[in-house]
Formats: sequence, structure tokens, C-alpha cells
Amino acid sequence: MCGIIGYTGPLEAKRLLIEGLAGLEYRGYDSAGIAFFRTDSKIQVIKQVGKVAALKEACEGISVGSHCGIGHTRWATHGGVTNENAHPHQAGQVTLIHNGIIENYHQLTEEFQLQDELVSQTDSEVAARVLDRFYQGDPFVAIQKLVGKLEGSYGFCILFADRPGEIYAVRSVSPLVAAYTHSGAVIASDLTALIPYTQSYFVVPEGEIVRLTPYKVQTYDLQTFAKTQPPVMTVNWNMDAAMKNGFPHFMLKEIHEQPEAMKNTILPRLSKGLPDFTDDGIDDEIFRSCTQVHIIACGTAMHAGMVAKTVMEPLLRIPVTVTIASEFRYQQPLIDEHTLVIVISQSGETIDTLAAMRLAREYGSQTLAIVNVKGSTIARESGYVLYTHAGPEIAVASTKAYSVQLAALYLIACRMALVRGKYTKEQARTFLAEFLDVIPAMEEMIKRREEMKAVVTHIINSPDAFFIGRGLDYAFSLEGALKLKEISYIHAEAYAAGELKHGTIALISDQVPVIATATQDNIFAKSMSNVREVKARGAFVILITKEGAKVDGDLADIHIMIPAVRDIFTVFPIAVVLQLIAYYASLGKNLDVDQPRNLAKSVTVE
Ligand code: AGP
Repeated sequence: MCGIIGYTGPLEAKRLLIEGLAGLEYRGYDSAGIAFFRTDSKIQVIKQVGKVAALKEACEGISVGSHCGIGHTRWATHGGVTNENAHPHQAGQVTLIHNGIIENYHQLTEEFQLQDELVSQTDSEVAARVLDRFYQGDPFVAIQKLVGKLEGSYGFCILFADRPGEIYAVRSVSPLVAAYTHSGAVIASDLTALIPYTQSYFVVPEGEIVRLTPYKVQTYDLQTFAKTQPPVMTVNWNMDAAMKNGFPHFMLKEIHEQPEAMKNTILPRLSKGLPDFTDDGIDDEIFRSCTQVHIIACGTAMHAGMVAKTVMEPLLRIPVTVTIASEFRYQQPLIDEHTLVIVISQSGETIDTLAAMRLAREYGSQTLAIVNVKGSTIARESGYVLYTHAGPEIAVASTKAYSVQLAALYLIACRMALVRGKYTKEQARTFLAEFLDVIPAMEEMIKRREEMKAVVTHIINSPDAFFIGRGLDYAFSLEGALKLKEISYIHAEAYAAGELKHGTIALISDQVPVIATATQDNIFAKSMSNVREVKARGAFVILITKEGAKVDGDLADIHIMIPAVRDIFTVFPIAVVLQLIAYYASLGKNLDVDQPRNLAKSVTVE
């Protein structure tokens, strides 16, 4: 979850590290710290509880001519949010930053008798101290020995006191990308930190050591120390994509970027009006031969899967199961070589999703990953990959990634229907033509954002909010509730509208906000009955329907109408509505929209 950056080269390292950390802050913001070689070749560490801005302040007035250093922004796992637990950690000759969890740190503490030396409660400091014990002047040998002792996940960047100008790195599971650029050598946990310097990079391979010097970035096999050459990748994101560009928050910018992201994800995959994954290298056989689909993901990505289930099952007439990745791993899943496992992840690094995908591969299932970050671990390890083209998503609350994940899933559903004979070419063309109508519908809802702003005054003073709907309306209500709770801290839950009366309706009392969606013609009347039930108990009803829906005048306190796209596509304009409600609720409560408490963008710990 933590953000990592390392730099060595001609530029002023302190400034570059702090700027890099500001860009990586979405990975964690409990504390931040940097370590760098000063001009006298001594290592200086500065670390500070709080956000990168606090670190920046702590660094002011410290003038150094540093050209090599490492920086870290922390999402606390082991040990509280204190300066001692902040990274970098120092032990003898070693200064280290770490992303991941060392699971056997207790055993290591005992084995190496570290109890009296430790100054923090972190697993990371244990790793630093063990590495220092092994260090006899050869970083490669010491790192190899350390790695041999570790259980868990890690991305380390390391400075050795007697090796000024050099950075060493090694990883297992936790991501690291690196590049040699005109401005020097850079390594980071995320691509976004490299974008200011280069668009060519490589993913640090597991089982290899990287050494960065001002003149070179070189990888070495961890066992033989022979030089290796990982493949170079390119990214078409630019700096603008990773900046706010005049928007007050990344989340609002990313909401606005959705129509464009949709076009970028859908249009390159249309050929003669039909979905075509030839350029993605996806073999139709995986769609044709499977007897069931199993979707695995976490959080918002899992909610995209819930929507896909409601679309795919009636269309394909095969079981489509959605499982939370962290549960999948421990439940002896009913999958086999005839199962198509679709894994969804914006970051491509979510550890539970990655582990679940690995398990699915062990069962012999075909894996197709829907991923946004090119070259991420899930993308590299999946049998097939369908990249979404949303560009970098920086706000912790996922918005555009959700829409494009859905877009990819709808394309898959259509392609599967075609190759399995459930759709004729004509039917598939009609599906896609109607699907494309969602893009102007999303644009319209973005333009009408003031309507959603007005809704929020009725929500922000309530401790609870309920989202209700049936079928597809229920599936995307789950995401609406997650959005609201994660950035406004209002307790929000989504319920299948028909289920309310089996318990939850006890919570509905005077003025409790209920966001009810009713966009599915076949169950519209049933949904309306459920809305009546909550209204009768005093709820403040914010009703969302398609334009033209017939609603009794007294039913809704606020009625938002989305353009009348076909029923199975209503999720797209409604996603915008629900995201904007959450955004304005967070804003209305004066909270940190982009970096809500306790969260981090990329969840690389279990
Ligand atoms: C939602 O707003 C969150 N950012 C979170 O639920 C996220 O979708 C989840 O952690 C999965 O992340 P991934 O798509 O990068 O795997």
C-alpha cells in the first residue's frame, strides 16, 4: 500500500523525492520520509507523521546538495502512526524503505536477537536490521541472504552507507517499476512517479536485484548475480493525466474523464460494429468452451462484477459467480478447466485479487484480467488481459476505473453471446450501437452535476443513508453506497429493495435518506412499491429513474431522471450520478475527498 520512490542522478534528489511522494500519496498518507546521501556522503533521514506536506515543511531550511535518495509514504500496517514507525528505517550500514508485510518478523526478531535494538514496532525495521547483520560490503550477497529469510511481500529500496550514489532494490509481490532517463535513474512503486521523466520503463522482476547508479539501471539474477534484461514497456499516459488540470480534486477530474475513457476502452475494440479482441490477443475459444464464468475482484471492481453478473447470466444462460477475492482464496472454489475466471483490478496489484487469480490458474481455469495499469502483476500473470484505457486514477475513490471495467465487461458479454450463438451478428451490432448511447448520457449527467450537489444537503447531516434497487439497480447501488461511505464517512448500505421488509426497514425513520433507483422496466412497479414502503415510514426519498418514468407526485422528495438508455445500460449514467452525490457529500462535510481516512489506493497487503 505504501508509496516508494528512489532517485540517483544529476538533479537535486531531496526536491525530486518530495515531489514524487506527493504524486504517490494516494498509496498511503500516515507518514512520509526520505533518506539521501549528503555532499559529505553521509546519509540523512527526515521523516514526519502526516502527509507529504508535513514532510516538506520538516525539510525546509535543510539545504543539501543531494543527488541520491529514497522516499516513502506510509499506510500503517505494523505499528501505529508515529515518527519511529515512519520509513526510512536505519540499521547500521543499511537505510531502507519497504512496501508490503514481512509475515515472519517475530521469528526473525528472535532468531537474530533484535529485541533490544528495535526502535520501532515495524516489520520493516526487522528486515533492515537483518540485512545489516548480513552486510559485509557486498550488497548482492546481503540482499540474497535477507530474501532467503523472508516470508511475505516486499518491495525494498535500500541505501548502503558505504555506497554513495547507489540504490539497491528487490521485490516479491509488491510492485516496483524502474527506468533510466535523461534525468538519471528512477525507481518507484507506481508508474505515475516515473511519468515526469520517461514513458519507457521496466517492471522489476521478482527474484532479481536492481542497482541504480547515476549512469545506469541494471538488474541481476538474485541467485547467480548474472546481469538480466527485463523487457522495456511504454506507457501512453502523460503528465497531464496525472495532474488535476484545474479541477479542485482528482475525483472530480476523473468523473469528468469518464466519457473519454469509455471511448478509449470501447472504440479500438469495435470492428464492423462488432466487439473484436484480436488486438488484445484474446482467443475466442475461452469464451466458447467455458461452462461457467467466475468473476473475482475487490471493492469497486467487485461491484463492477456484480453488474456484469446481472447482464451476463440472462444473456449467456450459464452460471456467473462473483466472489470477493479475499474470500475466494480460502473457500475451495468450485472452478475447473472449463471455468473462465475474469479478474478485475484497476491497479493490477491488489494482493487478494492476485492471489485468487494464481489459485484459479492452479485449478486449471482460463484467466482473463481486466486491468488498467499496463505491466502490473495481475496483467503479466493472467492468461489473457483486456486493458481498460482510463489513464491513471489517482483519487482513492474509484470512478472512471469502474465505468471502463463495466465497458470491458459489456464488450465481453456481447462477444461471448456472439461466439456462443446467443446473438446473431445483427443482434450484437444493435447491442453495441445502443451501448454507445451511454457516452452522451454520461456527458449529460456530468453537465447536470448541480442537481446532485443539491441532493447532498439532505444527506450530509444524516448518520445513515440507504441505497435500494432491484436487479441491475441493486447491483450498482452497492457501488453507490461504497462511494458515499468511503469519502463522506456516512454509514451507507445498499439493499435489494424487496429484502428491506425482512429486517432493514426497522432502520427507516423520519428523514432518513433513501436513494432509490428504479430503471428496469420489468420490475419498475415492484420497485415503486418498495419506495412507497420506505416513504410511508418517513424516509427522505431521492428517486432515480429513466426519463419518462411514471412516478406518483408524492413519492419522491427529489427525483433525478437519467436519459432513457436501454435498461441494461442505465448503470453508466447512474454511476456518474452516484459518484457526484458522494463527491459533493464529502465536499459538503469538508473532508479530504481524494485521500479519505484509513484508505489507500492500491491494497497490496492482505
Ligand atoms: C473504491 O473506491 C476503492 N478504491 C477500492 O474498493 C478498490 O476498488 C479496490 O481496492 C480494488 O482495487 P483494484 O481495482 O486496484 O484491484
